[in-house]
Amino acid sequence: MSFTVSLYLDLAPKTDSFSEEVIEGLSRSQKTLPSKFFYDGRGSQLFDQICELEEYYPTRTELRILSEHMPEILEALGQSAILIEYGSGTSTKTRLLLDNLTDADSYVPIDISREHLIAASEHIQKSYPHLTVLPVCADYSQRIPLNLNPTPGSRITVFFPGSTIGNFRTDKAVEFLSRLCSIVGPGGGVLIGVDLVKDVDILKAAYDDALGVTALFNQNILMHINARMAGCFDPDMFAHRAIWNEEEQRIEMHLESRDRQTVELGDTVISFNKGETILTEYSHKYTLESFASLADQAGFTVDHVWTDPDRLFSVQYLTAVTPGRNGREQQPS
Ligand code: TRP
Repeated sequence: MSFTVSLYLDLAPKTDSFSEEVIEGLSRSQKTLPSKFFYDGRGSQLFDQICELEEYYPTRTELRILSEHMPEILEALGQSAILIEYGSGTSTKTRLLLDNLTDADSYVPIDISREHLIAASEHIQKSYPHLTVLPVCADYSQRIPLNLNPTPGSRITVFFPGSTIGNFRTDKAVEFLSRLCSIVGPGGGVLIGVDLVKDVDILKAAYDDALGVTALFNQNILMHINARMAGCFDPDMFAHRAIWNEEEQRIEMHLESRDRQTVELGDTVISFNKGETILTEYSHKYTLESFASLADQAGFTVDHVWTDPDRLFSVQYLTAVTPGRNGREQQPS
């Protein structure tokens, strides 16, 4: 029996828009790069290595919360016909759910890294032959036309682990969650991993590990750009920095130019001063209260929260309140 899985939707950013987004980000006064460009084949592999690092507590803590509280989680989720996962990567955490969600008939993994997505989907298909696996290659910060039709009486559940919600700026996080709210519809819900505010030293170590894997991951974005747009970045000329921004309650990942330099990207030349940085990622940390307020703004109510004994991380089940929340479909009173 063959377990070849083909893409259900291919909405991967084309090379033109890749270059445009890179040049646009590098033309700002605080240079930035879109963090989705971390995830080429090598980037996805390095990210998997980050998840296994001693200092990187989120993955193992989330897995532990999921496995220890699975019966209650299943009870909260109820009958789920369709499971959609955003940023599915290797789909390791999903197995915990799929092993238990016996009524799920379709699994829709969404990821930007095509090879990784297809390989992971084939593994899942092999383990769960009765499941319809519908992989979508897309940048999920954009709207994705999924057009899924659950059978009446069953629900759509979105799984969004890894505290990836923290990688959105707060306003974008509300926008993204609002979109999830309309995808799952009334009665549907989102099972989401949310990393919590904690001691700054623990946070900094998680994003600047002793082995330097996170540094390699951060620098890999420059190699991905070199490959996609005939670029001349020398990754060794940029140092990895993980900085805690107290006011915004977030870790910021930067690449700091070790010297004054110019870098050619196709026809464009970008200049860097010594010490100037490229901002590559935010990782916001929430309290249970600050996250509940975010969820509320997006039309969700926090149905349930599970945490570990040290309160490092949380897994939360959010349910869609009513489609009219946020004033979108409400009449003025
Ligand atoms: N969602 C992960 C997080 O915020 C992503 C991540 C972990 C990450 N380590 C990173 C992103 C290092 C960029 C660089 O924890």
